[in-house]
Amino acid sequence: MEDNYNKYIKELYDNPKLYINEFINYEDDIYFWPKIIKMYKPKNVLEIGIGNGRLINLLHGYVEKYDGIDLSHELVDYCRKKYDYDNVSLYNQDLKKCRLNNIYDLIILPFNVMNNFYSENDIYNAFNNLKKMSDKKTIIVIDTINPKIEDLNDREEFVKTNEFNMDDQKVLVLENKKYNNINSTCIYKKRYISSEGTIIKESILPNKIFFHSELQLLIKHYGFEIIDIYGDYNFEKISNQSRKQIFVIRRK
Ligand SMILES: C[S@@+](CC[C@H](N)C(=O)[O-])C[C@H]1O[C@@H](n2cnc3c(N)ncnc32)[C@H](O)[C@@H]1O
Repeated sequence: MEDNYNKYIKELYDNPKLYINEFINYEDDIYFWPKIIKMYKPKNVLEIGIGNGRLINLLHGYVEKYDGIDLSHELVDYCRKKYDYDNVSLYNQDLKKCRLNNIYDLIILPFNVMNNFYSENDIYNAFNNLKKMSDKKTIIVIDTINPKIEDLNDREEFVKTNEFNMDDQKVLVLENKKYNNINSTCIYKKRYISSEGTIIKESILPNKIFFHSELQLLIKHYGFEIIDIYGDYNFEKISNQSRKQIFVIRRK
């Protein structure tokens, strides 16, 4: 099944109307990213995995140049139309094969994009390509979940995890999950249900789990130094209770 994880992620974000609407109002991190920009004062920024573009809208005004990539061409097309700003350039690129010829002041991997790198090869390619687009001054921020024991528990029954509005209709999101302890990946099955109770779409979201010490080691192994680690968007010091692990790193 591992070979298919990248296929599932592509399917999930192709035809992305449900995803766009599900997270259009996601706001947990909207104070965090502007503060990061004010701390490091980058002239140019690259966002890896732009999704529905909510961070393009939030951040492009703070910098001279805002670039973004996403492996879903439908999401890139949607964002190009919606956020047609002079200083924004968006590319349909996969970080694992990325061919951008720029060096950035700041590169951000927001909202669990990191959890979409599954195999040793995926992780190697992701870090290697981050290196190609950075120099020793580039700040890279990786925002991912800090896994808890619940993330490793299987749950066969579908449980409501979200609801949102689309075309003036309420859509419910139900999920079940199965953890694969060989490749540390939690496979969520997402079921989108209309207000009449019919299934609109089912999709699979494989979420690679990175334990804290493992991610620290990976970052160092690939030649980066760790500048800061936060446990949440309020910049708290990471602890056993923290729901996030947010690494600020740069090339050694
Ligand atoms: C959870 S969304 C985050 C979206 C956005 N950054 C935000 O904060 O709302 C993850 C996004 O990353 C994209 N993505 C996943 N793997 C990627 C890769 N290897 N290269 C480029 N984009 C990727 C997905 O297509 C999806 O749009």
